[in-house]
Amino acid sequence: MNSWIDLRSDTVTRPTREMREAMLNAEVGDDVYMEDPTVNRLQERAAEIFEREAALFVPTGTMGNQIAVKIHSQPGSEIIVEESSHIFNYEMATMSSFSGSLARPIHGEDGAITWNQIKKHIRPNIYYVAPTSLITLENTHNMAGGTIYPQAEAEEICGHAHEARLPVHLDGARIFNASVATGKSVADLSRKFDSIMFCLSKGLGAPVGSMLVGSQTFIEKARVYRKALGGGMRQVGVLAAAGLIALEKHPSKLSEDHANAKRLAAALAALPGIKINPAKVQTNILVFDISPAGLDTAEFSRRLKDQGVLANGIDSTHMRMVTHYDVSRDDIEKTIQIVGSVLTQKTPA
Ligand SMILES: Cc1ncc(COP(=O)(O)O)c(C=O)c1O
Repeated sequence: MNSWIDLRSDTVTRPTREMREAMLNAEVGDDVYMEDPTVNRLQERAAEIFEREAALFVPTGTMGNQIAVKIHSQPGSEIIVEESSHIFNYEMATMSSFSGSLARPIHGEDGAITWNQIKKHIRPNIYYVAPTSLITLENTHNMAGGTIYPQAEAEEICGHAHEARLPVHLDGARIFNASVATGKSVADLSRKFDSIMFCLSKGLGAPVGSMLVGSQTFIEKARVYRKALGGGMRQVGVLAAAGLIALEKHPSKLSEDHANAKRLAAALAALPGIKINPAKVQTNILVFDISPAGLDTAEFSRRLKDQGVLANGIDSTHMRMVTHYDVSRDDIEKTIQIVGSVLTQKTPA
């Protein structure tokens, strides 16, 4: 155990005692033979919860997203993405190396692109231009500050995309945060998408793992690509056991993270030197501008760390803080005080 207040990400959560006990007692088998009963149960439950035909356990969200890209696209095509999306910025350009496709990034307001924007970027079906093969959306949107995709917009995009015979993949790494914040089920939020990836290892707290969800045919193809990428994991029921607890029991905990994020945002907004609109903090992520304080994010992070708070900049002027179940309301109150003192700390001459 350490005593840091770790706001760098919700990926830093450590498995609970209940998860560790479930891991110890997990029934296992060889998952490449599809004989791991715990993995099979996790996949069945994910499919049921999303009201889809099938699901697949994958080691990471990145692998899940990139398998979906591979299945939906063809080499030499374009994939429409939001310009600050994870799939575009933080997945090692895998859509180019693994799927042979080019990202067509579009700027989205709070991470959300609209059909009106997208339609201008769909390439015409002419033999001398690279065709558009896929659209990807992200809900909640990480770098935009945990924003929830406007549901009507997402559905409009899926509807028009399908008329144009284009699939739409949802990077739903934090779809459960969107569900808890809106009161809509994850099935309703994602029904119109062709495939969904969600993470067990973020706010839901599992130590490892993400899920792909979709049709039976999609998941059968996904299993092939997961194996090709070295993601056939044998007695992985030890991890799926923690994933099952994350999936069944932890969504209900997310509202506390959201309340903590809102409390932090309201307090930060009142501090001179910080620019944040607390009304935009909808889930568990805050992104705020510290440029009025005359500090860059490297210095701000260093000062926070000296006082026991871990948080990263996303560029030289914007910090990101993420709440999760290993951060208590007390930790949030301490963070507020520490940020206040960091802002007034004298810069050494
Ligand atoms: C929105 C989003 N999608 C995908 C991922 C990838 O997940 P992983 O780190 O498990 O590869 C992340 C990770 O932070 C993310 O924030």
